[in-house]
Amino acid sequence: MMFFFIGTAVAPMMTASAGTISFATPQSSVADTNLYQFMPFPMGAAVGIARMKNNAKYSEVVSKEFNSITAENAMKFRSLHPAENTFNWADADYLVEFAQKNGKRLHGHTLNWYQYLPAWVTNFSGDSIAWENMLKTHIQTVVAHFKGKVASWDVVNEYFNDDGTIRPSVWVKNLGPDYIARCFQYAHEADPDAILFYNDYGHEYSSAKRTAIGKLINAFKARNIPIHGIGMQFHMTYTQSDANINAAMAFAAGTGLKVHLSELDIRLNTNKVQGFVFNETLAAQQADRYKFVVQAYNAAVPKAQQFGITTWNVGDADSWVPSWQGVPDYPLPFDANYLRKPAYKAIIEGGK
Ligand code: XIL
Repeated sequence: MMFFFIGTAVAPMMTASAGTISFATPQSSVADTNLYQFMPFPMGAAVGIARMKNNAKYSEVVSKEFNSITAENAMKFRSLHPAENTFNWADADYLVEFAQKNGKRLHGHTLNWYQYLPAWVTNFSGDSIAWENMLKTHIQTVVAHFKGKVASWDVVNEYFNDDGTIRPSVWVKNLGPDYIARCFQYAHEADPDAILFYNDYGHEYSSAKRTAIGKLINAFKARNIPIHGIGMQFHMTYTQSDANINAAMAFAAGTGLKVHLSELDIRLNTNKVQGFVFNETLAAQQADRYKFVVQAYNAAVPKAQQFGITTWNVGDADSWVPSWQGVPDYPLPFDANYLRKPAYKAIIEGGK
């Protein structure tokens, strides 16, 4: 296999985009390669439907570089089920078709979350039986619609607070904390072949949250609640330590479940500086973290448990991080022009 990085003496190219400088490898020198083919496990990206439809460069990079896809928003409650008796499948089905045409795995995100709910749900005034019926109808209609098309689901997202307590969502409030187990049962009934994940963030900095998630998984196993995977979002800072990253990987591996780094991005603007600019030093530091995360995952998680790694979108201009943090950032392996940043090569090196 030709390996394009070694000995090709390609100097980093400086490109000016949106008033920033990015350090990326010229696309032409690596155009004939695909990220996922270098990786020992599936390599995915979360994608936005508007960009998939309207930005040819974006959809080309997605199909070229990744072999797993997650809908960034198109399969969330508000997107799929905007009114009580209305399901809107168009955007998600667009992605199903793209995945099928291009031979990509499609990961479903997410059946149940406390955010991204339509007003009809947050304002819902039914009793607990009506709430249960609504929860079950949503999960089973969605899972049945995508049966055989979506291989796996984040069933419940972000059930815990960082201190390990249960987040007071509308679901917990109206249905009690054990509704989470029924979410998994409902999904399993609708598609017995789907791989079902519990997805959350913070494993790399909160041992309290890890402990709570571990207890939940053990309790599920003891009760025969169908759970097959743990999703660790990994919305990370570039200052995150080796020890913390390793602790998260060891924990997830220890569950015995499939492990998905489900929403990886590595942000740089930790001091929240307005007008923050990417530079070569930051590019190298970010690449180092990407490499470390991939290496740590590959080393700690047994092959049979490696579901893969998914970055949360593709290029820096597509990332949710700037709007989430309220400041500029450059958290992804591709720059705003979809040129490969040093992080791209680092991911490949981490997977060796
Ligand atoms: C984010 C999307 O990236 C944004 O576009 C949207 O406005 C809000 O949701 N954890 C998750 C993801 O599980 O669904 C979130 O995605 C990011 C945090």
